[in-house]
Amino acid sequence: MRHEWTKGLVRRLVFLDPHDQRVVDIGGNPMAGSTNGASPVPAGQRERFEWIVAGLLTDGPRESPIEGCGKVFIVGAGPGDPDLLTLKGKRCLEAADVVVYDALVDKRLLDLCRPGTTLIYAGKRDSRHSRPQEEINAILISEARAGRTVTRLKGGDPFIFGRGGEEALALAEARIAFEVVPGVSAGIAVPAYAGIPLTHRDIASQVTFVTGHECVKRDGSSIDWDSLARSPGTLVFFMGLKNLPHIAEALVAHSRSPETPTAVIQWGTTEHQVTVIGTLADIVERVRAAALEPPALVVVGEVVRLAEALHWFAEFEAARR
Ligand SMILES: C[S@@+](CC[C@H](N)C(=O)[O-])C[C@H]1O[C@@H](n2cnc3c(N)ncnc32)[C@H](O)[C@@H]1O
Repeated sequence: MRHEWTKGLVRRLVFLDPHDQRVVDIGGNPMAGSTNGASPVPAGQRERFEWIVAGLLTDGPRESPIEGCGKVFIVGAGPGDPDLLTLKGKRCLEAADVVVYDALVDKRLLDLCRPGTTLIYAGKRDSRHSRPQEEINAILISEARAGRTVTRLKGGDPFIFGRGGEEALALAEARIAFEVVPGVSAGIAVPAYAGIPLTHRDIASQVTFVTGHECVKRDGSSIDWDSLARSPGTLVFFMGLKNLPHIAEALVAHSRSPETPTAVIQWGTTEHQVTVIGTLADIVERVRAAALEPPALVVVGEVVRLAEALHWFAEFEAARR
């Protein structure tokens, strides 16, 4: 399928019809007939093509940024240890006029900013309410429209359960120039600091990142527990502490062995890191006894056994103190 674009609007679409392999050309008005000798949309198939066009429009390239606006850098701050910020992320902090930062970001990173940089906290406004995503998007857009260079500093990697995608889409829609600077995700770094390699040639050949936040819904879970439970590799649950009883129960109910090694790591990569290791059968009780609190990552799979031999960070921290 080929398509051409003019400032983000469909000018012409040319499809290779998957059924009869004919070229179908849709003009500037997507539902108009042929413009270049290709067949027009076949009678009775407009609905199907309308659907494809709608899909292309939503996924389509964005319009060019408006001139005179500032740029937004969506930067991953890493999982906690401030030394895990990337060099590019550091440069973005040094260059920013405005930094909009999240709750899980280590505040020492803000010392990299120039004096006079405006710092905007995007976490909880008070002890209860997080800022709505729309409000954060609006701040990014208005600061950039005022011509400022904005660094949006997010925990871990911005595109892994970080709503970075939503923010980028809002910027694209508002025609604000942006760049994404990936960060070291907690999903990778936190197990590493706990001595758990997520893959190992003899033990696990696949890893799945899952949100533990959305797994209990009144209208049914959005998680495919059956395939998760049967997947032979490592499972990493973000935001899974509160729902840990449900996660452990669902995996066992879908035939993962209750003896599967399971780790829960609180505040990984920081001086507050605590790792609790057990099995799917007893992890809930162990975590309760240790009184773990968010942020915490849940790792399920045989690789967890390696922590006994490979845990290094606790000793490193103890020696440093
Ligand atoms: C909203 S998600 C953001 C994830 C982030 N974008 C990333 O790539 O790491 C927040 C969740 O990440 C996990 N997390 C983030 N930092 C962590 C840390 N230092 N230790 C343990 N888990 C962490 C927790 O599961 C937490 O609830």
